[in-house]
Amino acid sequence: MSKDIIIKVCTGTSGVASGGEEVLSAFQHAIASAGIQATFYERCSARKVGCKGFCTKDVLVDVIINGEKTTYKHITKDMVPKIFSEHILNGTPVSGWMVEDEFHTFHSRQKKVILSQCGEIDPEDIDDYISANGYEASRKALTSMEPREIIDTVKKSNLRGRGGGGFPTGLKWELASRFRSDIKYVICNGNESDPGAFMDTSVMEGNPHAIIEGMIICAKATGSHHGYIYVKSEYSLAVKRLKRAITQCYEKGFLGRGIFGTDFDFDLKIFQGAGAFVCGEATALMRSIEGKRGMPSAKLWRSAEKGLWDRPTVLNNVETFANIPQIIAHGAGWFRSLGTDRSGGTKVFSLSGKINNTGLIEVPLGTPLREIIFDIGGGIEGGKSFKGVQVGGPSGGCIPAELLDTEVDYESLAQAGSIMGSGGMVVFDETSCMINTAKFFLEITQTESCGKCIPCRIGTKRMLEILERITSGNGKEEDILLLEELGQYIRAASLCGLGMTAPNPVLSTLRYFRNEYEAHIRDRRCPAAVCRELITFSILEESCPGCGACKRACPADAVRGTRKSPHRIDMDMCIKCGTCYDVCKFRAVTKV
Ligand SMILES: Cc1cc2nc3c(=O)[nH]c(=O)nc-3n(C[C@H](O)[C@H](O)[C@H](O)COP(=O)(O)O)c2cc1C
Repeated sequence: MSKDIIIKVCTGTSGVASGGEEVLSAFQHAIASAGIQATFYERCSARKVGCKGFCTKDVLVDVIINGEKTTYKHITKDMVPKIFSEHILNGTPVSGWMVEDEFHTFHSRQKKVILSQCGEIDPEDIDDYISANGYEASRKALTSMEPREIIDTVKKSNLRGRGGGGFPTGLKWELASRFRSDIKYVICNGNESDPGAFMDTSVMEGNPHAIIEGMIICAKATGSHHGYIYVKSEYSLAVKRLKRAITQCYEKGFLGRGIFGTDFDFDLKIFQGAGAFVCGEATALMRSIEGKRGMPSAKLWRSAEKGLWDRPTVLNNVETFANIPQIIAHGAGWFRSLGTDRSGGTKVFSLSGKINNTGLIEVPLGTPLREIIFDIGGGIEGGKSFKGVQVGGPSGGCIPAELLDTEVDYESLAQAGSIMGSGGMVVFDETSCMINTAKFFLEITQTESCGKCIPCRIGTKRMLEILERITSGNGKEEDILLLEELGQYIRAASLCGLGMTAPNPVLSTLRYFRNEYEAHIRDRRCPAAVCRELITFSILEESCPGCGACKRACPADAVRGTRKSPHRIDMDMCIKCGTCYDVCKFRAVTKV
């Protein structure tokens, strides 16, 4: 009896980092050596797919036999022969290596639109995308829709830009379509430089054709014949797969002259950026493509009229473009019904930090944070308590436990003092110091400030100095007011979104975790025992058996005591490295 066997190995960035390429080769080698492809199996192949979302379980492998899927987790190349002989050749899945209930819960609570093909199709094989109805939407748009009709559909879908600002996509396209010019541009913003964010790279690596298709449709709607995908060079896998996808499109006639047999032409190129965070800002990105220094400019006119090389330009985020083929294929009403009244569709988030299920998720806009963090994310690591979640990258705001029922949409997040950003979510537990956390994010924006405007360049530096003072135990009473005033000023006076949002982590933690600032300043105490200068280590006499582990490990020779009698720490010598705390098996070392 013939069988269909397909093995899908995660080779997104996380999968590759965990050994996905080696696992894939091991399966391909096993198939070749068994010589089974040509004998009694109708179809047997091992292929690469993009990110499957549940990155903590990588390398994830699907074995699909006659349509029945078994998913394995934490697979290494050494495990492949056993899966091959027991499951593939003999039909008995290897028990104990398969994913468990949490994997199914992780996926069943999501709604996959943008990610529906990531982890399913081979991103390097255009035919795989085509067999999943790929390029049908762009064919439809080019062969049977007028530009006005495409724009109306996108407007009715309620799609808002996923790059952070939430500007209505249909309106942006409409504005660009109105300006007359011999040359117009379509740009995809794949810069994604927020720490903790990997949504756009996962789409570029896992389903590059969806982005290209979205751009072709945009080009038709706005009358553009030239496009760029701006990706930072560090995203080498994304660059490689996008380049390959573009080449395949030219070969098939989906890019270039006379696409789908129509008289419509569209050329698309990759532009590799050097990795600056600020180059994700629309005007800075365009200057970067022009070969100039990537600095933002005041938006005296919108790029819909004068963008790249002063020509009408539409610039959208990766996820925004990847939504477009789905909207054209399934209709504006379907897309609109997935989200809230003011924002249609779903949003991809990258979940990271102190959470059990780190990974990539997609939920309808309006989903409460609680559902994301506890139902999909599986709650907090080690059973600790949830303290807050930073939404929107380094320029987002921290939302505390009491606001866990906040729904993720542009307005609700703004009301809570945060932003959607591009979709980073970093979770903190009771062991996180919120001032230290705000300092971490501000350090990033401070370093990444391009320096063009003074509020951002100098203002963030002054804020950072104040935070450094507070976390080292030298804070002053007036520092809180100073931080608030500076934050408001930088917000109002900065040239671009980097400066306008840079104070968010500080302002939001001041709003929700003010008692922590007060404890640091007034009591010279860090409640989460994180800030080094404010921690005191001591040894509980009644718990210390005198094993000497802390004494041996202390790099500063600060532990005193003889074997089998309680030890103590000489605080004059202690450098507060925490080694004694980490090595003590008896929990006798305390830090407060
Ligand atoms: C400092 C800074 C960095 C940004 N980085 C990105 C980015 O990496 N990707 C992105 O799509 N938008 C980024 N944006 C937003 C863009 O300026 C722009 O609004 C967006 O790409 C427009 O696409 P959309 O309408 O589809 O959201 C950034 C904005 C700022 C201020």
